[in-house]
Formats: sequence, C-alpha cells, structure tokens
Amino acid sequence: MAKTSKRDVKKTLTATEEVTEFVGNDLDSLCEATVEAIVDGHGFNWLKPPARTTLEAFWRGVLLIPERTLFVARLDGRIVGTVQLVRPARNNEQGAFSAEIATFFIAPWARGHGLARSLLKDAERKARAEGFTTLEVNIRSDRKPAIALAEASGFTRWATKERYARVDGVYLAGHYFVKYLDKAAPAL
Ligand SMILES: CC(C)(COP(=O)(O)OP(=O)(O)OC[C@H]1O[C@@H](n2cnc3c(N)ncnc32)[C@H](O)[C@@H]1OP(=O)(O)O)[C@@H](O)C(=O)NCCC(=O)NCCS
Repeated sequence: MAKTSKRDVKKTLTATEEVTEFVGNDLDSLCEATVEAIVDGHGFNWLKPPARTTLEAFWRGVLLIPERTLFVARLDGRIVGTVQLVRPARNNEQGAFSAEIATFFIAPWARGHGLARSLLKDAERKARAEGFTTLEVNIRSDRKPAIALAEASGFTRWATKERYARVDGVYLAGHYFVKYLDKAAPAL
C-alpha cells in the first residue's frame, strides 16, 4: 500500500484555487454549497435560495465577467465555498487602485478547515500581483467569524452602515473594512 505523507493527505482533503471553467460536478456542488450557506444564514444578499436555474446562471455569469475572478474552496475535490475578487469597472479610472472581496462563504459543514483563510489569501495575492493597493470588504455585523477573519488578516474597519441589510423586517448593520496592500504585509 502506498504510504501517504501528512502533506499529501492535507493536499488531498482541502484546496483553494482560481477557476475559469466548471468541470465535472463543479457547478452542482457550487450551487449546493451556495444553497446551504443561504439557508444557514442568508448568504451574500439572498435571503432564501433562488431557483436552481437562477443560481446556475449566476455562477456561469460570474465566469464571464472580466472584472471578476472566482476562487473556490474544495474539500475532497468537491466545491464547498468561494470568494470573488472584483475589480472596478473600466470607466472608473480614478478608482482603478481598489478591488473588492465578494461572495465569500464556506458551506456550514465544511467550516473550520482553514479554507476561508486560504481563499482570502488567494484573492489578496491576485490583487497584489495586479497592482491593486487597496482591498475592500463589507460584512454584516452579525457575521462574527467573518469579522474575526478580516481583522486577523489585517483589514481595518473604517465605517459602519446602520441599515446594511433588512432581514425579516429588521435592519442589520454592516461593517466596511479596508486593507492597504502597499502598506500591509501579505496575509499569512
Ligand atoms: C466566515 C467564514 C467564511 C469562515 O469560514 P471557515 O472556513 O470556517 O474559516 P477558516 O477555517 O479558514 O478560519 C479562519 C479564521 O476565521 C475566523 N473564524 C472562523 N470561524 C470562527 C468562529 N466560529 N468564531 C470566530 N472566528 C472564526 C478565525 O479568525 C479563524 O482563524 P483561526 O482558526 O486561526 O482562529 C464562514 O464562517 C462563513 O461562510 N460564514 C457565513 C458567510 C459569511 O459571513 N461570509 C463573509 C461575508 S464577507
């Protein structure tokens, strides 16, 4: 029986990577992870899961938008989460230095493996490589793990919007974070 080193096992179990196309059951697992994240706590703007065709169109659309790069997290090969690096629109010349993090989630059952940290690192590395000096993310105030991760990764909270989201008729605040890539060390 082939001997598997600890390093090989880790590589087999968890990985994050940029994707430019969906292969095999990628789109299926991505849609399932999205639904699970939405049901768990209103994932990235949706309050309840949209129709499967809407979700599939959404993710296919992401791959078509030149300003967006999609990174996925995999557990045993299956997509369990994502982050997008979103660049400013081309006509936004004065804001061309600043990129944003979006659709950042890990399916509830796949959390705690370091995948979110790795996704964030991937997105930050790409932003640095493309010369962006500012990386921004906004996070709903009740998303404590995400806030903890952003702060641990060198993001600074610069503003809070009182009416960031409305869930079941209740307004929830949202925090705005920034990381100046030309002044901060790369995320560990
Ligand atoms: C935030 C989220 C992506 C973290 O996913 P994850 O894969 O469990 O995170 P990781 O295992 O990579 O953990 C990285 C860090 O996140 C923070 N974190 C993760 N889970 C946490 C928890 N339950 N409580 C506090 N901090 C937590 C910690 O700083 C952790 O680092 P540590 O393990 O060294 O303490 C996940 O909880 C999620 O999808 N939440 C819902 C969606 C969301 O809030 N998205 C952010 C919108 S921008």
